[in-house]
Amino acid sequence: MKYFFTTPIFYPNDKPHLGTAYTLIIADFFKRYYSLHHNSVILTTGTDEHGKKIYDTAINKNITPQEHVDGQRKNFLILKEQLNLQWDYFVYTSNPDHIKRAQDIWMKIFDKGLIYKGFYKGWYSQKDEQYFKLSELLDGKAPTGHEVQLIQEECYFFKLKSFKDKIIDHYENNKYTIEPQWRIKELINNLIHNDIEDLCISRQKSKLPWGISVPNDDNHVMYVWFDALTNYITILKYGSQDFLMDYWQNSYHIIGKDILYFHGIIWPAILMALDLPWFQQLIVHGWLTINNEKMSKSLGNVVNPCTLCQQLRPDYLKYFLLREIPLSSDYNFSKDLIIQRINEELADKIGNLVNRVVTMIIKYNHGIIPNGSDNINDFIEYDGILMENLVDERNINGYIQNILSMAGQLNKYIENSSPWKKDIDINHRNQILYNGSLGIYKLAQLLYPVTPEFSQNILITLNCNNFFESIGNKSINYQGVLIKKITLIDDNIVELV
Ligand code: MSP
Repeated sequence: MKYFFTTPIFYPNDKPHLGTAYTLIIADFFKRYYSLHHNSVILTTGTDEHGKKIYDTAINKNITPQEHVDGQRKNFLILKEQLNLQWDYFVYTSNPDHIKRAQDIWMKIFDKGLIYKGFYKGWYSQKDEQYFKLSELLDGKAPTGHEVQLIQEECYFFKLKSFKDKIIDHYENNKYTIEPQWRIKELINNLIHNDIEDLCISRQKSKLPWGISVPNDDNHVMYVWFDALTNYITILKYGSQDFLMDYWQNSYHIIGKDILYFHGIIWPAILMALDLPWFQQLIVHGWLTINNEKMSKSLGNVVNPCTLCQQLRPDYLKYFLLREIPLSSDYNFSKDLIIQRINEELADKIGNLVNRVVTMIIKYNHGIIPNGSDNINDFIEYDGILMENLVDERNINGYIQNILSMAGQLNKYIENSSPWKKDIDINHRNQILYNGSLGIYKLAQLLYPVTPEFSQNILITLNCNNFFESIGNKSINYQGVLIKKITLIDDNIVELV
């Protein structure tokens, strides 16, 4: 089966922060999980490089916007290595290929009579890159608290309003379209109670020169969100014979809750205007906060994932974020909690178990995994369908908790069957050793989307090349303790030796 997963494309003005890493780590989980189960998965991420914020910053730095974004993009590209991620394509919207395809998309919608020229009067928040009506402002500011400015200018409108009923209808009949599903109600209420208006999708070039030129009017550039949303199909070569429709038909957007309106209302309308099928699902996550406040440069509480990963293995950060945070919740980040989770769970429950099994095989069977009869359910409650369902329900949290409980059961099984007993029958002991190896091999497979490096190291230890081999007769390739405990020293995370 083919899958297409995406993250939002990030504004490159600011450096990536832990929220950025969180989105990417969730996406990496799905990419690895579905790839491991013999699917072909494309995962994309990237940078959203147009708009007023980018333009103003470049002018202040006395460089061109292109120079500015070319420099800033690197801060995001390095995350692939630093966080050990597996995305396939990095989209950036100042790329000529994206620009050309976005312009073709514009023309296609224009030619269908769904874009018209008019006059816009309303408020624009540069920080949110979003238009607001007077009735939506709170104390003269955007609902997000950001400053707004009055915009009165000629612009092109997209006939968003004409899609309202179809959008409501789709959500009412396809509850799977948003996870968590309760957010559908939020969107439908928004559509019903806030009179939806046609969307202004251009700015005058004289006021904002940095953007994709409107192909049939050189005085205008496209509204940054119109340009950005199309990235999800321009990267699949939309508009050409080579369009990867089979991936698009099974597409999943991972987004933060703050951008649900754009993805849940504007994007489906654009897709319908292009006669394209809807995405399959929006996977919506909450916010990471520090001391219960949103991470932001102005508050000075930004956690830089690169700095964090200099102290902490990417596996540990991934385990912590995916294990700890239910997808729909906001979460207050703290280093103390990382220490606790890694030490008590990843190190004590899983890492120790791996070490215990491996050292027993070295001690009792000269480092050779004995052959045995293959029935994992004789000693742990492993249910492959249940695990698959948890992933399909986007319950990564529950998926990891199940792994932990399997590790607990395996530990108990070893304890109870005591292979170290002197008078134990050798065949029986070999079966216990085999079961232990099979158990940790299974745990490595299940953990691969969460802690890929640790899982690979278990494979190396068991002398296996992949997660679907038979393990009997392999000779152990001992790597030492795979998960080291950590501690905090002067607010830095340090591995204990
Ligand atoms: N450029 C737009 C997205 C266009 S997609 C067609 C944008 N960029 S952003 O850089 O502001 O945000 C990108 C993603 O990061 C969003 O999903 C947002 O929710 C997420 N996060 C930003 N800060 C966050 C936290 N503190 N915590 C978790 N995710 C957060 O919006």
